[in-house]
Amino acid sequence: MAAPKELFSADLLSPEVQSALPEGYKLRALRPTDYDTGFLDCLRVLTTVGDITKEQFQDRYDWVSRQDSGYFILVIEDTNSSPPRVVGTGAVLVERKFIHNLGSVGHIEDIAIAKDQQGKKLGLRMIQALDFIAERTGCYKTILDCSEANEGFYVKCGFKRAGLEMAHYY
Ligand code: ACO
Repeated sequence: MAAPKELFSADLLSPEVQSALPEGYKLRALRPTDYDTGFLDCLRVLTTVGDITKEQFQDRYDWVSRQDSGYFILVIEDTNSSPPRVVGTGAVLVERKFIHNLGSVGHIEDIAIAKDQQGKKLGLRMIQALDFIAERTGCYKTILDCSEANEGFYVKCGFKRAGLEMAHYY
């Protein structure tokens, strides 16, 4: 049987992160079939997701896949569970700039580890895997916004506080 279609090439998956994951846990790119594997439930530990239909999921997946190496969504799948279940996710958006000699910046977004899987270093591995993609796609840095409550986690992942977030809601 042909391997399921994935959002991006396996060349961008860090072998070091894969080998550091617990037995039976797999790092991979998002797939269209992840509507049914717990990906959206995983995101629900982060924020509201809403009631997304399979068709809406597919439309958004197709849009992300057209972003020409600009939008990468990773998952960690627990293949020990039956059926296999997505237990972690994270994304990096690669912004290609004019400044800094056409430099690129990675924006890390939507990090979520299933509640019953937190504390097993999956969040750390997810960040390392996203950093790998950012480096491989030529980013000179990655940045992210987080709450004060999560600052300690990102410090453990090697980030440092820089600047101030501002928001304009519509
Ligand atoms: N504050 C301080 N330290 C922390 C925190 C925290 N909130 N969370 C984890 N750590 C520490 C751990 O103790 C561990 O330290 P150690 O190496 O000394 O043992 C280290 O950080 C790595 O922890 P992990 O086990 O990898 O963390 P976990 O897998 O639980 O993932 C995460 C952390 C992603 C914050 C998870 O708890 C989660 O999904 N929370 C809910 C959603 C969320 O808040 N996501 C982040 C939003 S910000 C964004 O998306 C850019």
